[in-house]
Amino acid sequence: MKTITLFNNKGGVGKTTLTWNLSVSLSSKGKSVLLIDFDPQCNLSIAVIGEKKFEKLFKHTTSEPYGRTIRAFCQPFIQQDTTPQVFTTSPQYPMDQGSGRLDIVPGDFWLNNLSDILSVGTDLIAGNAINRFLIPSLIADKVSAANNIEYDYVIIDVPPSFNSIVRSALYCSDYYLVPCTADVFSSYCIGLIGETLPIFNEDWTQGVKRSRNLSNNLISSKGQPKFAGWIFNGFDKRRNPGQSQATEIAADAAHRDKIKSSVEKHLIKRLKKSVSEYNAVPSFVSNEPVAKVEDLNVMAPDSILQSVPLKYLSRVKPTRGVLARGAWSAPQKTLMQNMSSEHDKLADYIINHLV
Ligand SMILES: Nc1ncnc2c1ncn2[C@@H]1O[C@H](COP(=O)(O)OP(=O)(O)OP(=O)(O)O)[C@@H](O)[C@H]1O
Ligand SMILES: [Mg+2]
Repeated sequence: MKTITLFNNKGGVGKTTLTWNLSVSLSSKGKSVLLIDFDPQCNLSIAVIGEKKFEKLFKHTTSEPYGRTIRAFCQPFIQQDTTPQVFTTSPQYPMDQGSGRLDIVPGDFWLNNLSDILSVGTDLIAGNAINRFLIPSLIADKVSAANNIEYDYVIIDVPPSFNSIVRSALYCSDYYLVPCTADVFSSYCIGLIGETLPIFNEDWTQGVKRSRNLSNNLISSKGQPKFAGWIFNGFDKRRNPGQSQATEIAADAAHRDKIKSSVEKHLIKRLKKSVSEYNAVPSFVSNEPVAKVEDLNVMAPDSILQSVPLKYLSRVKPTRGVLARGAWSAPQKTLMQNMSSEHDKLADYIINHLV
């Protein structure tokens, strides 16, 4: 079971959308995937489960006092009063025959509270309760036992932040991938990640040293997230006269090159220099994007609104924009197919390298 987080402290770069479509591609290749929505915005849950079904999970009863979301594990775990429970839900749009199992631990807006409860100083650095930072892994283990399945991949969706729940997700992850969009801030944020991850690592090392339950196997196997590459998301392509193939428009190509150099200089180099406890940058990683997903335009929000991943979106009618209740155009269908192939390529990269 490999745990992966798509992470960038910058908001709106496509973390959630990519996480969802990647999980569908992995599942279509026969892999079993557990999604954990660890973002208080709950966008992944809304997309995967659909708003109506998701809303029902918030009903609190005597036997399910925290509903059927991630809160049902987290709150009892923190308060240590009742037994933590895990619940998973299936995607609203069913995967094709022969696909691997795809489940989600639904998020909860309450996760904002968890992020306030987890204390970097007391729980982590002082070593009093490192386990609190391992909640996603504890959930994954409990779900595996409850559903009687060893998932191939656990993918955690996180908010755009460096807060304690993002830390927690990263400590639980074997690998993280960084989605970036074509804008001036992406390369800056790459540098911030390069500054922050070594600090996360130091804090973890300190905490483990001071921890009173060093014998805990889970703790010794965690806290070593490796950078697995970056994903270029949402850029524009155009075919110029005389060109046979469409290429990135000049402005986006310039952004891509800036991100590439920032990944090299401010992330890969820094991680190699500052993290000595483990190999934070595997040898297969370069500064080239591991996947390139173009601007999907109205298809991106419509996919979320209908809870249909991009791979299957051409099977349903569009509900947004000028095409509402009409049909997808031929170029739109082509773009869906090509970008779905890009998600598949990302899945192959993960299957082949993140072992
Ligand atoms: N390739 C794309 N083309 C067009 N729109 C996209 C693309 N990827 C994502 N979007 C849109 O951009 C918005 C942000 O995407 P998403 O929610 O996946 O980003 P995020 O990084 O998870 O955001 P947050 O930081 O808030 O969690 C959404 O409206 C989504 O539909
Ligand atoms: Mg998101």
